[in-house]
Amino acid sequence: MNAVFHHKNSSPKGLVLRISFNHFSFLLNKLVNEWEKIVVFCTFGFVEFCIHQQHFTTSTAMFNLILFGPPGSGKGTQSEKLMARYSLKHLSTGDLLRSEITRQTPLGMEAKAIMDRGELVPDEVVIGMIQSCMDQVPNVPGFLFDGFPRTAAQAVALDHLLQQKNAPIGVMLALQVGEEELVSRLMKRGETSGRSDDTNEQVIRARIAEYHKKTTAVADHYRQFNKVVDIAGEGSIDEIFDRLCSEIDSRK
Ligand code: AP5
Repeated sequence: MNAVFHHKNSSPKGLVLRISFNHFSFLLNKLVNEWEKIVVFCTFGFVEFCIHQQHFTTSTAMFNLILFGPPGSGKGTQSEKLMARYSLKHLSTGDLLRSEITRQTPLGMEAKAIMDRGELVPDEVVIGMIQSCMDQVPNVPGFLFDGFPRTAAQAVALDHLLQQKNAPIGVMLALQVGEEELVSRLMKRGETSGRSDDTNEQVIRARIAEYHKKTTAVADHYRQFNKVVDIAGEGSIDEIFDRLCSEIDSRK
């Protein structure tokens, strides 16, 4: 700095020029010394920017919704009503897996043993199923995802699939229901549904435990983009439907 002030040309203009030049050389020097850190910083920044851009870009063409919640929270029940109201394409991985079981495909047979224990089917299986279903219906107003994504890896895969359509998730509506209410609903359904994973209380509790262990991470993933809205999931089916619709209508 002293060199700046004790110079033979000490006119104010010269002083400003020398300060600017010294400042510029200092920055250039720093830039050269630290270019590796800068490249890494910019790369991370760019990747993060792309992910955030995807979540904050609104596509007028599609509205994609995740109906989220633990087993028995009413995802299937409310999905029926929502797809009728909004003409969304309903994609339920549980339904897709049960259809494989009914057709006795090799995938279905493998999945059945896992589902009967109340555990999650491997990510690559469900991601593959969702991808092929999405590819079969290229022109829909939007997708209603029910029971998917269920792990952080599935959420990242879904974001990637939707990025290709330039249509990110619009909102995740997360149904909140107490554990004893969930167990009671599923035990009741088990009396008539024929679903083998509904008949045994231990399996029902294992499904709920699996949800807490692996699936709540999905809500954390979308919370960072401000996409999650908690919805009280107890009350009459119509009351809950109205709560869901008012959230959707405020975003469309
Ligand atoms: P899946 O079929 O997705 O089942 P789930 O998540 O366990 O959910 P449910 O269908 O049991 O409950 P729901 O929230 O849809 O509630 P519903 O409306 O039916 O998955 C089954 C298995 O497949 C998993 O365990 C896993 O193994 C595998 N799987 C699926 N997706 C996967 C994935 N992405 N990754 C890995 N594995 C996967 O309602 C339940 C009952 O409550 C009904 O009888 C209903 O009439 C009643 N009910 C609904 N609303 C109300 C209300 N307001 N008041 C009183 N009763 C109500």
